[in-house]
Order: sequence, then C-alpha cells, then structure tokens
Amino acid sequence: MPEPRPRPRSEELYQRAVQLMPAGVNSPVRAFRAVGGTPVFFTKGEGPYLYDVDGRKYIDFCGSWGPLILGHAHPRVVAAVRETAARGLTFGAPHEGEIALAQAMQAANPHLQKMRFVSSGTEAVMSAVRVARGFTGRDIIIKFDGCYHGHADSLLVNAGSGLVTFGTPSSAGVPADFTKHTIVCDLDDVEGFDRAMREHGGNVAGVLIEPVPANNGLLLQRAEFLQYLRKRCAETGACLIFDEVISGFRVAFGGAAQLYQIAPDLATYGKIIGGGLPVGAYGGRSEILDHVAPLGRVYQAGTLSGNPLGMAAGLATLQILRSENIYERLERLGARLESSMNQLFTKHRANASFVRRGSVFWIYLAPGAPPRRAKDLDADSARRFTPLYHELLNRGFYFGPSAYEVGFLCAAHDESHVDALAEAVDAALANGIGI
Ligand SMILES: Cc1ncc(COP(=O)(O)O)c(C=O)c1O
Repeated sequence: MPEPRPRPRSEELYQRAVQLMPAGVNSPVRAFRAVGGTPVFFTKGEGPYLYDVDGRKYIDFCGSWGPLILGHAHPRVVAAVRETAARGLTFGAPHEGEIALAQAMQAANPHLQKMRFVSSGTEAVMSAVRVARGFTGRDIIIKFDGCYHGHADSLLVNAGSGLVTFGTPSSAGVPADFTKHTIVCDLDDVEGFDRAMREHGGNVAGVLIEPVPANNGLLLQRAEFLQYLRKRCAETGACLIFDEVISGFRVAFGGAAQLYQIAPDLATYGKIIGGGLPVGAYGGRSEILDHVAPLGRVYQAGTLSGNPLGMAAGLATLQILRSENIYERLERLGARLESSMNQLFTKHRANASFVRRGSVFWIYLAPGAPPRRAKDLDADSARRFTPLYHELLNRGFYFGPSAYEVGFLCAAHDESHVDALAEAVDAALANGIGI
C-alpha cells in the first residue's frame, strides 16, 4: 500500500474538525473511511484543478460529486453570481431568475411541464415522492437496490429478505414504519419488478430509479429495462420517477430522458442545475404538479427555494452547456480515456473494467463483465481500489474517496489531463497496485 504523502496542514485541520463535526465532515464519504487516511483540505478550485492547504495541486475528477461540469470557478458562472449577489442574496419572494432557469430546463426536457425549485437533491426526491403519492392516492414506492436518492427517511432502505418484501431501514433513526411503504427491487430484473407490480401494482404510487445508476459504481442499465418500467407504469397508473440528480444535464443536455428517449412522469434534479450552489428541482406533468400547494393538497415549501444566487449560477451553467457543444467534447475525452484504460488493463492483464456513460466513469477492479445489479458487485474490488486511490492521490489526482464513487470529466479537462491519468494508472499497475 503506497504511503500517503505527508499533508501536515490537512492533518492539523482534520484534528480540529473532528472536535466540531462528526468525523470532521458534513457528509460521510468525505471522511475517507472507505479508503483510510485523512481527508484532504482544499483552499482553491480553478478549472480542472484543486489546490490543497499544503500547497499541492490535483487534477480533479470528483468535480464536487457532479455539479462542476464546467470545472471550478468558471468565469461566466462566477460573474453571474457576483452580479446577482450585489442585488441581494435572497428575497423570499418570486423573481425573474426562477423563470429563466425553469425555461432553460424545460427547453431541454419537454416532460418538465411544470417544476419547483428546492435546495438539494434530497429535497427534490423527497418532494417528488410526496407528489406521486398525493397525485395517485397510493402509498407504495418501488426503488432499486444500489440506487441512492438522498437521505429522506423513506428512501434509506435496504432490500428486505425476500424478493418482493418491504424494505427495512438502512440507517439508525428511521423507524421501520417509515420504510414499510418502500419496496426494493433489483436493477435489470424484469421478473422481480413484475412480481412486485403484480403484488402491489394497484397501490404503487411511484417507481423511482436513477436511469443511469451512478451511486454504487456505474451500474449501466439496458434501455429495454427502462422502457419496460415506462410501460408498466403507464399500464398501472404509477408515476415513473427518474432521479436525474446526477444524470440531468450530464449524460446529455436533456439527461437520461433524452438519452433513452423515455419521458418520465416526474423527474428530479440537483448538482449541475445549481452550477455549484445548493439547488434541486422536481418537475413533470402539469396534471401531477398541480397537486402541489397552494394549487393542491401536497405540501412543499422552502425559505431559500429558488434563491437568486443558485438560479443565476444554474442558468449561466446551462447557457454555456447549450451554446458550446460541450457534450461532444466530453464524449471525445471520455472515449480517449476509455480506450487508454482498456489498453492498460490488457497490457497489465488486470482484472478490471472501465465503465462509462459520456463524462461519467468508473474503474471496476474485478474479473468479468461489469455488473448491472448492486448485489453482483465483487466485494474484493474495493480492497484492490484502496491502494490505487492513494497512489493516484499521491500523484496529484483527486477522486471521490470510495471504490463505489464514479469519476466525472468536465469541460475544463483536456487531452493532457486524461492522458496524465492514464499514465499514472499505467505506472500503478506496473507496480502491481490495483491488481
Ligand atoms: C441520484 C441522486 N439523487 C439524490 C441525491 C441527493 O442529492 P443531495 O446530496 O444534493 O441531497 C444524490 C446525491 O448524490 C444523487 O446522486
């Protein structure tokens, strides 16, 4: 296992942070528990780079877990935030920025006939689930093992022991009663899903899925599976809910809905639509959204919802994404990295796969084809990943600190950055690291 390079200032700050915050962090994976060692503390992000408090520079492939598709501190996004901030940070009342961002989102996603802005992906999914229930008058939500939808109580669920069982809480502090209306199915399993629908179809309010599941590695789904969910939801009156918090404006301007040409009834967004500020959104068919208060009886609200800074950062980001043909560029970079990595895996006879959809990628260190279901993940892949993680960190590449987190390319990356990553992986594999 490579010795972590000394980062005395990060160490010192971490010792202070753990006195004040659980494990010193404000979101658990940041604590580095999955890979060991001390979290790196950063002072600056610029384009594709992060700079830590010990004066080291990293090529960033985490991108703050997805929002930074344009890289850090894009000048136009920063300018939009500055200009907006000078006119007031929040009004707690309607303003034109909300309309502008909603229109930009709708232009790419025609299924968003109406939408609401909130302040995080968690809030977006929690609200979409509530609306699905309010609209249908039904209770049950079907979700899929390995998909993450934020930390709302009813979605922190493990699969129960049987195939079509009610979920059990996956977090302390969530009463079993809160998850009893959540059913967990396997991804890529038409039969299992059918069984659940046969048993509960008449009471299923929503079928919730990450159409590009990117929270347990990258468990790419067959289009037919997603199409099947669409068909069964239409037949039973359940709402198909696409959680596009990662995939929205990432895998295409119109997200997974565009990529797979499937219109969900409801969709949730976060990350990119806030351009690096805390913004989420949920939306869908007007008929459904009209159940939200004060038009309807589904309550949802937020002091800072639609706040001007988030709207401005999101709008600037979407405008750049739309005008500069960034998806083609990201696809080219992604394909280049994929081809290099596959050559390296062959050269070093590594049991590994490079899984990719556009600018989202995942290195899976295990033999065989990459899985489509969470339960097929090889637990040893995480053991192999840890030394590779530290080797890459030592060489100046920053990734989310876990074997099951995906990497993100951004528009500020170029060929030199992906080639540098491939060279570093080449050197690591040559030393038996990651094999
Ligand atoms: C698919 C998906 N849904 C929801 C969430 C929750 O979003 P947030 O962390 O903004 O609450 C995430 C977070 O990573 C996510 O990846």
